[in-house]
Amino acid sequence: MSVEHRAVVITGATRGIGKACALAFAREGYRTALFARDTVLLAQVARDIKDMGAEALPIRGDVRELRDVSRAVYEVQRHWGRTDVLVNNAGVGYGLTPLMDFPDDQWHETIDANLTGVYYWTKAVLPIMKEQRSGVIINISSGAGKHGIAGLAAYCASKFGVIGLTESVADEVEDLGIRVLALCLGGVDTEMHHRIFPGHEPEGLLRPEEVAAKVVSLASPKDRTRTGSSITLYRRY
Ligand SMILES: NC(=O)c1ccc[n+]([C@@H]2O[C@H](COP(=O)([O-])OP(=O)(O)OC[C@H]3O[C@@H](n4cnc5c(N)ncnc54)[C@H](OP(=O)(O)O)[C@@H]3O)[C@@H](O)[C@H]2O)c1
Repeated sequence: MSVEHRAVVITGATRGIGKACALAFAREGYRTALFARDTVLLAQVARDIKDMGAEALPIRGDVRELRDVSRAVYEVQRHWGRTDVLVNNAGVGYGLTPLMDFPDDQWHETIDANLTGVYYWTKAVLPIMKEQRSGVIINISSGAGKHGIAGLAAYCASKFGVIGLTESVADEVEDLGIRVLALCLGGVDTEMHHRIFPGHEPEGLLRPEEVAAKVVSLASPKDRTRTGSSITLYRRY
């Protein structure tokens, strides 16, 4: 299948890494479904993609809401009849706070958005990819998914969870032609990073566009990365 007929869904496509991924996939000729909560930003990214001559489908929704995810999957199928790539990128991160002082509502939001959202989206697209006998799911984890960081217990727990989910599901669906990968990022120059680590200089961080290039390459049918892998991408000096 030519790239211009392949369809990708990107969660958290309004800002930062997700927006960079959306533009990068569109540049490659993918049909690009954008999922996030901010309708104004969604419309802007969709406009940018259409200005490039590519197809964009903005869908408002919250990854923590199963109903929103189910509706979005239905919309993508109705428009394009296939989902070749899912990028589970949406996520939240709060400033450094020791667990003893961590607000319970922020714990629940972090786990719900960063881990349960990946579960909902993955579960919803697997039957479609099974039917297609092909598909790639790329879950955005973090260096914080491989080692704990003081003040980031909830975030680390969610990102460790993403790696466990990735490895388990990858084993379950390998024989169906579906690949599932985790991408563990070092610091990336986005709003989230600067909220958690105010004072980090952009020069020491990955650019969202560098991350997007890696995501697009992992999504390629030519990519030979072993399914279930956690790929690390850090800034190199
Ligand atoms: N920046 C880093 O240093 C870094 C490092 C490692 C991993 N990561 C991971 O990379 C991913 C993207 O982060 P970023 O740095 O690009 O963050 P960002 O600039 O804050 O963007 C986060 C995106 O997620 C969306 N989002 C958040 N909660 C959502 C929800 N409940 N439902 C739907 N969409 C939601 C936001 O859109 P709306 O607000 O419009 O919904 C936004 O588009 C996250 O999973 C993050 O954990 C980031």
